[in-house]
Amino acid sequence: MSNEGKNILLGITGSIAAYKSAYLVRLFVKKGYRVKVIMTKAASEMITPLTLSTLSKNKVYIDFSENDVWNNHVDLGLWADIFIIAPVTANTIAKMNYGIADNLLLTTYLSARCPVVIAPAMDLDMWKHSATQKNIRSLKDQGVDIISVDDGELASGLIGEGRMAEPESIFEYIESRLHQNKDLEGKKILITAGPTYEKLDPVRFIGNRSTGKMGIALAEEAIRRGGEVTLVLGPSKIDPPSGVKLIRVESAEDMANAVFENYKTRDIIIMAAAVADYTPKSVSDTKIKKKDDDLILELKRTTDIAATVGKEKRDDQILIGFALETDSEFENARKKLKKKNFDLIVLNSLKDKGAGFAHDTNKITILSAKNNKISNFKLKSKKKVAGDILDEVVKLFVK
Ligand code: CTP
Repeated sequence: MSNEGKNILLGITGSIAAYKSAYLVRLFVKKGYRVKVIMTKAASEMITPLTLSTLSKNKVYIDFSENDVWNNHVDLGLWADIFIIAPVTANTIAKMNYGIADNLLLTTYLSARCPVVIAPAMDLDMWKHSATQKNIRSLKDQGVDIISVDDGELASGLIGEGRMAEPESIFEYIESRLHQNKDLEGKKILITAGPTYEKLDPVRFIGNRSTGKMGIALAEEAIRRGGEVTLVLGPSKIDPPSGVKLIRVESAEDMANAVFENYKTRDIIIMAAAVADYTPKSVSDTKIKKKDDDLILELKRTTDIAATVGKEKRDDQILIGFALETDSEFENARKKLKKKNFDLIVLNSLKDKGAGFAHDTNKITILSAKNNKISNFKLKSKKKVAGDILDEVVKLFVK
């Protein structure tokens, strides 16, 4: 893949994470991209323009004019094949949302015609604040791509969500955004993701440890590749990507209803959700009060969504399932592949370090019903795993 001629405009705003932008510039330059940097004044107090001009091999832009020469924001916007603002502060996010243009970075944003991607960085309370979340949602609706924040130690010493994504992940994101493979163009895709919560009473539920990361990564990748994606998402804390048709659900029954209403008009159906196999036989309208005796809960089976779709699907529809196993992995996955009439099954073994729920990585094996083929993959980021799964799906269209 040639990067020659690809221009990356990097915007840097005044967050402590600005020091990470130097690594990002290095990664881009090393890979052969042309990089220009625009900083806000606050950012230039966090990291020197000299560092960035040396690494990017280009002058760094801060002001509207220098030595009587106008820095043309329109030209910068037109030069860029992609504009990535990393880190982006709550302040710049708010200004972007409202079209405030009081510095060179913001005027360039307003004149840019290329895709714009932002990687927010801030303290956890600022990130969670309803004003910030509202601005983020609104920017998503305006077509800005958001790279999710990481969870971890923050510059304030607090621990939580708000860290900027690591430069390597931002680099990966921009690379795939620039070299978009539109092999799912025109395909209608339905993805289930996340856990389900089965209500016991107004305050309690039975759930599972799924975070929804894998299914959301699949939705994100499918959109990037031109697919039209409907995401049926259980109670997950992760933000779904912009551009999906989102159906939020809570219980296995809600998820089943959403899938049954939609799957007939879809070409590809991916069942990445961890659906409860059992749900309480009865739900109490009032809080269940404790007694001295033990409590026995009666559970009933839920509808197997994947098996139902497997039974009813047409030959021109592709169905992909997941199997999370702890023992006899291949045997169990193969049984599920057959029983639920999947075209592909993605096996994660909990024996593999870094695989399964909550991790940012996954290690998968894909079993195919078409030719009994088994494909093994290395431990990778869930984003890359999503790419591998969709590559296998695309191969199924090639007769
Ligand atoms: N699935 C579903 N509806 C359910 C249960 C599971 O659609 N009610 C889907 C999952 O999304 C996944 C696959 O079926 O794609 C997993 O199969 P399943 O047999 O449910 O796996 P486990 O719950 O792990 O089953 P077991 O307890 O037999 O291991």
